[in-house]
Amino acid sequence: MFILSDKIKNLIGNESFSYDDVGMSDSTVIIFIDKVLKIQTVSEESEHEYEVMKWLQDKLPVPGILAYEKTDDKNYLLMTKVPGEMSCADQYMRNPEQLVNLLAEGLKMLWKVDISNCTYMHRLDEKLQMAKYNVQNNLVDMDNVELETFGENGFQSPEHLLKWLITNRPEEELVFSHGDFCLPNVFLSGKKISGYIDLGRAGIADRWQDIALCYRSLLHNFEGKYCDKKYQGFRADILFEKLDIVPDWDKIRYYILLDELF
Ligand SMILES: Nc1ncnc2c1ncn2[C@@H]1O[C@H](COP(=O)(O)OP(=O)(O)OP(=O)(O)O)[C@@H](O)[C@H]1O
Ligand SMILES: [Mg+2]
Repeated sequence: MFILSDKIKNLIGNESFSYDDVGMSDSTVIIFIDKVLKIQTVSEESEHEYEVMKWLQDKLPVPGILAYEKTDDKNYLLMTKVPGEMSCADQYMRNPEQLVNLLAEGLKMLWKVDISNCTYMHRLDEKLQMAKYNVQNNLVDMDNVELETFGENGFQSPEHLLKWLITNRPEEELVFSHGDFCLPNVFLSGKKISGYIDLGRAGIADRWQDIALCYRSLLHNFEGKYCDKKYQGFRADILFEKLDIVPDWDKIRYYILLDELF
């Protein structure tokens, strides 16, 4: 249950709306004509989303903040609606070369953000601490993991995975990272990035955090995991060619595994 403040009610007026059914977290996202209201249970991540969105206003295309309010257990972020469509929209999925090119541009734009005065830290020091908290408090969503992560040929349990991640911690190449760089969180309009959304995990992290989740999201969206429609034409090579980078498969695997604990 949530109760909107008069300030937010006034800003919304009588605009028609619909509920988003894409997001998988327990947040409620209400889409208006030109605004979006995201209501989340108060957590470090939900508060961070507002802070980092504010910090990014003049640095990257992110939603404008119209209002932010916090009650005992919920926070309410009213933001501008990003123009364009999610990068997993049919028109983009049908053009893999163009889509991957735009996503690679999106990654490079993040890496250009000056992190010298950025205080939002999502390095492995912080991520592994958070992962430990999630494991110890039974917060790992076991219904939403890659098939091969746990079980016969995988890890016995989240505890075992955490231990492996701590032991096999790679060197980090620090950049500004989105933190959850999957297709529904990157909006495109025409031939450019029109907005990054869902910023609760954004901050300084290893470059491969975003590359890994981008790669995983491309695979899942092309194989029809979310909408039963398969698309042809995605090759990992395109992503690495556009990024002008040699794939570091150990790191890609590491960050996909790390994400299982969130
Ligand atoms: N500012 C915005 N402009 C346009 N669409 C938005 C905006 N914010 C959210 N949406 C839509 O709502 C969806 C869910 O929002 P968001 O990703 O922030 O929520 P979430 O519940 O945290 O999702 P996730 O499952 O990725 O954690 C987005 O994929 C997008 O389609
Ligand atoms: Mg999202």
